[in-house]
Amino acid sequence: MKPELSFANLHEIDTELLAVMAIDTQIAGGSEAIPQPVLLTASEAVNSAAATIMASGEYKAAPNETLLIHAPAGLAAKRLLIVGLGKPSKITVHSVRNAAGTAVRFTKPRGIRELTFALPELAQSGSLLPPCPCVRAAVEGAFVGDFDADTYRSDRKDLSVQSFTVAIAPSGTATEPNQSPTQNPSQVELKVAFGEGVIIGESQNFARSLVNEPGNKLTPTILGQRAGQMASEVGLRWEVFSTDKIHELKMGAFWSVSQGSEEPPALIVLRYDPPGIRGGPLLGLVGKGITFDTGGISIKPSENMEKMKYDMAGGAAMIGAMRAIALLKPKVRVLGIVCAAENMPDGKAQKPGDVQTAMSGKTIEIINTDAEGRLVLADGLTYAKSLGATHLIDAGTLTGACVVALGTANGGAFSNNDETYEHFNAALATSGEKFWRLPLGEEYAEQIKSDIGDIKNTGGRSAGASTAAEFLRVFAEETPWIHLDIAGMAWIEEKRPYIAKGPSGVAVRSILEWVRRYEAALVIE
Ligand code: BES
Ligand code: MN
Ligand code: ZN
Repeated sequence: MKPELSFANLHEIDTELLAVMAIDTQIAGGSEAIPQPVLLTASEAVNSAAATIMASGEYKAAPNETLLIHAPAGLAAKRLLIVGLGKPSKITVHSVRNAAGTAVRFTKPRGIRELTFALPELAQSGSLLPPCPCVRAAVEGAFVGDFDADTYRSDRKDLSVQSFTVAIAPSGTATEPNQSPTQNPSQVELKVAFGEGVIIGESQNFARSLVNEPGNKLTPTILGQRAGQMASEVGLRWEVFSTDKIHELKMGAFWSVSQGSEEPPALIVLRYDPPGIRGGPLLGLVGKGITFDTGGISIKPSENMEKMKYDMAGGAAMIGAMRAIALLKPKVRVLGIVCAAENMPDGKAQKPGDVQTAMSGKTIEIINTDAEGRLVLADGLTYAKSLGATHLIDAGTLTGACVVALGTANGGAFSNNDETYEHFNAALATSGEKFWRLPLGEEYAEQIKSDIGDIKNTGGRSAGASTAAEFLRVFAEETPWIHLDIAGMAWIEEKRPYIAKGPSGVAVRSILEWVRRYEAALVIE
């Protein structure tokens, strides 16, 4: 997809398909409110081309509801697509992200290769839909919408939208002067926002492409190769270690997960060191990279086990975020660590009752070999700290309990530090992703005390997401830390108008925004 930014007036844009957003407003009419959708453009030509259908009552402008008009009168565009945003009280910049995704997913299967997505004119856009965040969100949404998971279909047709243009006209008509030029962003600022959207959308899709790969095509070693190749391309320093280094570092928890597999584990280390910056925070991003989770000796039921290829989604999110960081170049040091392994049953596999010594020196009684994500993350967190991380964030598809608690609407988030969490919460407003903070606490720590060692790797049936987080806290220790449980969010089971079924790439955008917030806290030595 070739993205472009246009400042032309909408009626002059010669394109296969021009998409315009509409909001769901109503007017009072006797006893009932009459739907009266309104287009988010001041272009008289566009409004008159759509006037009849907009007045018909057939189109409500519900979120992501589409309506296509062929050969719209008075426009240079061959087709006009109206995309609903829903009710004004519920509209955010994120609605624009989804609308752009919807426009792309509408366009793609019809074999239309050219799409122009119109934003409100600069003179019209109020505080609700600020131009720069909207430009960025539209591009992100378009890239996200363009992704399909059918990589291995022999009859796969590349229907990708070849040219995607965001159009933002200064005013509704060519002659009308701009009402408030001082408040409007410059074209340079809009171009920067546009460029960010491209990087972020592509990075999220890079993570999705990794998550989509089946276990036989993406082993820990191959995940390491893919991460290393990307890192070289974007200028990150990187190393991928395996068994020897894992033993040398005494990562007994990480190794215990991989010991039952023929596939060697991979310890992926990506470093972003902006030039001239030595002091200040060093942010450690740690991802769970289980390329396939059978459960090990505590084997999973076969039903739905194929889904466990996406058990490396936390690791992929970190790799995707590191790609975006390398290209956006925030002035803060970042370290990305992915602990990749395959969890298999075997004669050499670890057994329930085994005791493992983690890199930190803590001993872990293995109760269930299927609670493997926390084992690899434990050593990943300790390793990040040993490399100097001052703040930690981890992500993984950790617990079914988190899915039971929050479903597929919110990811679970945990933190030992309110200030650090506040940065993450603020990041969510920009990323448009939804996470819900869940509790840590002494009571949960009590559930994972072991009789034979320091802790055990499961804490019984209750509060499974919190006991997993409490387990990780033991390794984060006092370092400010956030844990993201994305088990319910990493894979989309039902297609949506703006995103395909399959890997979601969740957490890439939120982690990136969290990182960018530390630029402000910078200390230059
Ligand atoms: N990878 C799974 C968690 C998971 C479940 C991810 C559903 C995505 C969708 C994890 O390794 C796991 O098996 N967790 C166990 C922990 C239990 C043994 C304490 C679980 O949730 O059942
Ligand atoms: Mn498991
Ligand atoms: Zn797992």
